[in-house]
Amino acid sequence: MRVVLFHDEVRPGAPADEQDVLVQMDAIAAALADIGHESCRIPCTLNLEAVANSLRDAKPHLVFNLVESIDGQGRLIHLGPSLLESLRLPFTGCSAAAMVATSCKPLSKLVLQGARIDTPDWHVLDSLSSNTAVVPGRYILKSSWEHASRGLDDASIVNITKPDQLAAALKARLPMLAGDGFAEAYIDGREFNLSILAGEVLPPAEIVFDGFDPAKPRIVDYAAKWDAASPEYTGTPRRFEFPSADRALLDDLRSVALKCWHCFGLRGYARVDFRVDGEGRPWVLEVNANPCLSPDAGFAAAVAQAGCEYREAIRRIVEDARRV
Ligand SMILES: Nc1ncnc2c1ncn2[C@@H]1O[C@H](COP(=O)(O)OP(=O)(O)O)[C@@H](O)[C@H]1O
Ligand SMILES: [Mg+2]
Repeated sequence: MRVVLFHDEVRPGAPADEQDVLVQMDAIAAALADIGHESCRIPCTLNLEAVANSLRDAKPHLVFNLVESIDGQGRLIHLGPSLLESLRLPFTGCSAAAMVATSCKPLSKLVLQGARIDTPDWHVLDSLSSNTAVVPGRYILKSSWEHASRGLDDASIVNITKPDQLAAALKARLPMLAGDGFAEAYIDGREFNLSILAGEVLPPAEIVFDGFDPAKPRIVDYAAKWDAASPEYTGTPRRFEFPSADRALLDDLRSVALKCWHCFGLRGYARVDFRVDGEGRPWVLEVNANPCLSPDAGFAAAVAQAGCEYREAIRRIVEDARRV
């Protein structure tokens, strides 16, 4: 089979999270070759007409959609699958509609709420300016469209004592958040990632906060994900071993993750990020419909933990794309 790897164009000097697609493509191309498929690469740029022509000329049997942003902007992520759907080309991962619904975090939270899946309370600027009641407390200021912990560091966490402080804090933070952000209730507690492969929930992973100063927010910020030399990176190892006391919680996480898979109509692969509060209640932070497939990232680690080879996971993602 001829497979096109459809990916972000990596600009010279691009930050580490953008460069990562190159690592993913090398690993996926090798896995595809192992299972007997040839592949080539086509970047997705803002010149959609030229991209459409390249895709048509390549005459692929399947497109492996790795587009996470276009022109460095996460808010354009759905143009990749939208273009593929308009060209009637089969592709891996979720539909364009599911990509919008999961990638726009405030929108995804509305969908979660509608499906009665717990997600932390949140405010966008519009709702703040129309005087929504803001409960004083701790909030995290996040980008609406960017992922990979872009714009997240210790200063993302704010303590609000008076309601009107939240809008001011969010406005001041917008330049770090690609211009569009929201404030979300901070869940002080454990963090879990649940990966799903073709509808099968893989072993849950916990991100452990190791050696964090008590005053430092326990979040997986940009440095924790991308700066291997930082204390945040070395201080956030992943673990798959749990005491039996965690069994009920882990079952709960598995069932909520699967509920997310079905409520967004996902396909191929996904990862659901959770925090668990002091009472042991899981809260969905986000649903990643195209999580990073680098061999050293969380999805591949969960695949390995399930006793599955990386290339077998790629084979199942390819197979699931043809399920439509
Ligand atoms: N409401 C929250 N409470 C506590 N920590 C949070 C919350 N939202 C995000 N975080 C922290 O920030 C990290 C990144 O947030 P997330 O919503 O997963 O966005 P992304 O991974 O797409 O950048 C999480 O892994 C978590 O450590
Ligand atoms: Mg996340």
